[in-house]
Amino acid sequence: MKNLLSLEKLPRADFAHILRDSSVFKKERAAHANQPLAGQTWALMFSKSSTRTRVSFEVGIRELGGESLFLSANDIQLGRGEPIRDTARVLGRMVHGAVIRTFAQNDVEEFAAFSKIPTINALTDDEHPCQVLADIFTFEEKCGPIAGRVVTFIGDGACNMPVSWIFAAAKLGFELRIAAPRAFQPAPEILKRAGGNIICTEDLRAAASGADLLYTDVWVSMGREAEAAERLKVLCGYQINTGLVQLAKPGALVMHCLPAYRGKEIDAETFEAHAGTIFTQAENRLHVQKAILNWCVAG
Ligand code: CP
Ligand code: NVA
Repeated sequence: MKNLLSLEKLPRADFAHILRDSSVFKKERAAHANQPLAGQTWALMFSKSSTRTRVSFEVGIRELGGESLFLSANDIQLGRGEPIRDTARVLGRMVHGAVIRTFAQNDVEEFAAFSKIPTINALTDDEHPCQVLADIFTFEEKCGPIAGRVVTFIGDGACNMPVSWIFAAAKLGFELRIAAPRAFQPAPEILKRAGGNIICTEDLRAAASGADLLYTDVWVSMGREAEAAERLKVLCGYQINTGLVQLAKPGALVMHCLPAYRGKEIDAETFEAHAGTIFTQAENRLHVQKAILNWCVAG
């Protein structure tokens, strides 16, 4: 039994294992001989909105032979203040695994420790490991090994997406450039913990030059809505647009974890020009989620 709580803690060999299995699950969609979740019920406990993560896990669990139970935090006692460790001890006696989307990273860690069932981080304020695994799978599917390549993240460099990219870069050996205003650069402590080849800059044109992949995410992450006006002001300009794409390597990929806000972190023209990649990236959440679930219950 394993947990996927953060990419920081995911061993390099397990990264490779999940990426390899994702490709098998994609090829064998809906035709798996093996049903690793047969007889199991998994809880999806979400305190934030979700389209891709929720649907990919619900469908993925079903396709692996299991059943899922969607628990909105607003509808269960957790939302009225029941401690996470008590919720964990109850669910741990009733379900076989949990997929959790919440605010504090500590809540998924505490849930895993107290429930003693496989627990997957489906996004916290600190990390979005399932998304970055799907992103890397998508990159490698289209362009080959990511090791030695250049990935440039543009926008809010301190939110969950770039942090998961930071931990992946150190493990998989690619160069990661993060272009963000000074107030939205990753915490030095995270960069130190991760190691790897990570360049943080305010200069988005320099960061985009020669990149193999340009990546962005919303300027206002879930839970940061009260800061929206200030964020839009400071992040304005940190946009992937036609001019910026021209600086990247010819044929460079453009990716977005979605949902996308046209005219903010990406312009409409660039979004549509790269929609094929972006929606394959979204589809790959399903195949990668299945590989993660399978990895959690194996051995
Ligand atoms: N990218 C992503 O996690 O999408 P959802 O918020 O819709 O799950
Ligand atoms: N940084 C974004 C990611 C959404 C998938 C958020 O946390 O809202």
